[in-house]
Amino acid sequence: MSPPQGSLKELRDLALRCHDCPLWKHATQTVFGKGPAHAPMMLVGEQPGLQEDASGEPFVGPAGALLDRALHEAGLDRAHVYITNAVKHFKYELRGKRRLHKRANAAEQAICREWLAAELREVRPQRVLALGAMAAQAFFGTSFQLTMSHGRWLRLSGGIDAMATWHPSSVLRSINRDTHDHRYQQLVDDLRAFMAGPEHVHAVSVVGRRAG
Ligand code: URA
Repeated sequence: MSPPQGSLKELRDLALRCHDCPLWKHATQTVFGKGPAHAPMMLVGEQPGLQEDASGEPFVGPAGALLDRALHEAGLDRAHVYITNAVKHFKYELRGKRRLHKRANAAEQAICREWLAAELREVRPQRVLALGAMAAQAFFGTSFQLTMSHGRWLRLSGGIDAMATWHPSSVLRSINRDTHDHRYQQLVDDLRAFMAGPEHVHAVSVVGRRAG
């Protein structure tokens, strides 16, 4: 398809009817980004979960509750940021009657990147924070590793300062209490650094169809 065009509201309406990959067939609805139309800060998660699929809004389930707690601790007000996802539909596999989260594949991620690029173009944030590997790789490429590079400022080709940190779900899935507490603290520290802004920005070349 040609890259989606229009105001944020028009993009949201268009995205509701997006059939560019098969994920729309089994999801309840498109989960588009939410927040002020020209927010200076944008947070990008991975893909909607069960609750987001039902409500149509990003980060309203358990990962969203943890994100809210971390944002509050870091002194960031969710109402002031635009929050979206790298992929806009819930993907799952059925186990009996339960719908269990399934990661979008590389083709689905690549197709959905058009929407993320369109949101970036319209919102024009000064800073972007990628939550988790899928979002980070949409901006920085598939060789990006969160363990090595979370909390580090990079500059996207469009001049936007960007950083990646742990996804709230990966904090929730920690194998023990110590790992949980450590990751959660890193998430809060990265959110604080994100709020404070870039001090040492390393140039990165962004090529091809990446979102930045
Ligand atoms: N995880 C995400 O990455 N995004 C959501 O909206 C919810 C959970």
